[in-house]
Order: sequence, then structure tokens, then C-alpha cells
Amino acid sequence: MQMKHKLKTHGLISIQDLNRDEILFILKQAEEKKKKGAKSLLHGALMASCFYEPSTRTRLSFEAAMKRLGGDVIGFSDPSITSSVKGETLHDTMKAIGSYVDVIILRHPYDGAARLASLATPTPVINAGDGTNQHPTQTLLDLFTIKECQGKLKGLQIAFVGDLKNGRTVHSLSLACAHFDMRLFFVSPESLALPEEICQALKKQGIKFSFHRTIEEVIGKVDILYMTRIQKERFDPASYLHHKGIYILKESMLHNVKKNLKILHPLPRVDEMESSIDKTPYAHYFTQAENGVYVRQAILALVLGK
Ligand code: CP
Repeated sequence: MQMKHKLKTHGLISIQDLNRDEILFILKQAEEKKKKGAKSLLHGALMASCFYEPSTRTRLSFEAAMKRLGGDVIGFSDPSITSSVKGETLHDTMKAIGSYVDVIILRHPYDGAARLASLATPTPVINAGDGTNQHPTQTLLDLFTIKECQGKLKGLQIAFVGDLKNGRTVHSLSLACAHFDMRLFFVSPESLALPEEICQALKKQGIKFSFHRTIEEVIGKVDILYMTRIQKERFDPASYLHHKGIYILKESMLHNVKKNLKILHPLPRVDEMESSIDKTPYAHYFTQAENGVYVRQAILALVLGK
């Protein structure tokens, strides 16, 4: 199926909806948006920004992307002001909103919510994070950033650190890395390990990966260190306190790293990195956040058939 048609009819729910060539095509489109801009491309188009969970980067970069392309935005960032508090189902809300707009951006606390929404309306739905499941547009901006800073994707070594059980950005990015023959290192306590179904999917694709308990075991080997926070909102308070602060990346740990190392983080960060790392040449997470606008412009343009 042609790329534009596929995104226009299906939206973007899971990173597994895209093959390697389709991912590379989106990255190429984003590169053009970053270099040249694309004013007025989406003039007259309307996007609904529906956020049932807190967000800074995903919501505002999607809204900035749409407005900078000449389109318009409606929506909510606080579900308590919607009719969901009266008991309306997600299905009915999405069906109604789908009849008002050209594209729906949905963040929701439940795994599978974006898929459910996409079945409720013919309007394309883009998954902006569904529970602990996936965050496919974050993955595309992560890949864009990795390609931009390393000059390639194929064969890189990447370590994921932190809450790999609940971190949806890790789930979708590790699945996407499999297209590019990367070597993956997963650093977490056993209680926050990568879910078994993702390990099985990686095995099926013949990807080399290993599990580690400390950052020190892997930091000297990798091109990308992908830090994540402990996802407080997914824990009961006692369990969160038990895991909080389990990994802290210190500036002193960066002495014997590869010259091309870049540290990425989907953000927000809490206490898992010393802030002095921001001044080192390895810190790349704010460029990563900025790239969200270009990548989301590319996705919106494709979903809206431009
Ligand atoms: N990376 C990310 O999803 O950030 P927000 O929660 O701020 O949208």
C-alpha cells in the first residue's frame, strides 16, 4: 500500500504498522521540513489534540507542528472538562470528535486506547502514547535524532536505562531498532525489565540484545545512551519509593566513553541524570525534543495526504 494512503486511512497506532522503508521515508520528509520548512502546507486542515494524560513535548510539538504548517487545532489537555466525567466512553468521544476534524492526536492512560479509537472513527488517529504500550511518534523523532547525530542507523550500539517495563518510548524504539540491525543493551533491575513479548519480538527478528544491572557495564561500548525516568504514575507509592533514584547518570561516568556518544532522553527527566551533563558534548536530549516538531510535521503532512 502506498505510504501516504496507508497513513491517511490507518493513522499511526503502533511502530509495528511501519516497515523499514516507510520509517526511512518519514525521516527523509522530516529532514526536509527541518531544512526548508513548509509554510501553509496544511492550510484549512483541523487537528484535534486529545490528551487524557499530562504532556508537555508531545502535545505542544504536535500543536506547533500543525500551526506552523498553516493548520488549526482544537482539543483538550484536561479530560476532567470533557464528557468522559459524565461516563461517556472513549469510543463515543472519538466517534464524535472524528466527525469534526481531519486528524486526531490521542494520548491515553490505557494500553490499546489508540487502537480502540481508530476503530471508532474513519478519521486517522495518531497514537501520542497509550499507557505502557507504545509511543510511535516519539520513536520516529528518536530515530531521526539518532540518524542526524550519528550519520547512520545501521549497526549502532544502544543502551536503554531505567524503567524498561513501563516505559512506552523504550518499547516502541527497541522494536524499531530491529529494522536497523542495532545491538541493544537493556539496563534495569529485574523488577523493571523489558516485557517478555518485546524480547520475543526482538528474538524473532534475530536482534542481538543483553540485560545488565548497571550503567557502568555498558557505557563504554555504546553510541547512544537512552536514559528514562522511573514512571511514577505507573507505581503504588511504596514501590515508587523503592525504585526512585535506582539509576543516576553522573558526569564522572562519562570519562571513558566513545567520542561519538550521545545521551538521549524522551523527557521529562526527574533525578536520573546530573544536570551538569547538560554542558557536555554528549547531551543531546534538547535537540531530540526540538526534532519532535519536524518529525510531527512530516507525519501530519503524510496523514493528511500532502
Ligand atoms: N516524551 C514525551 O512524551 O514527553 P511528554 O510526556 O512531555 O509529552
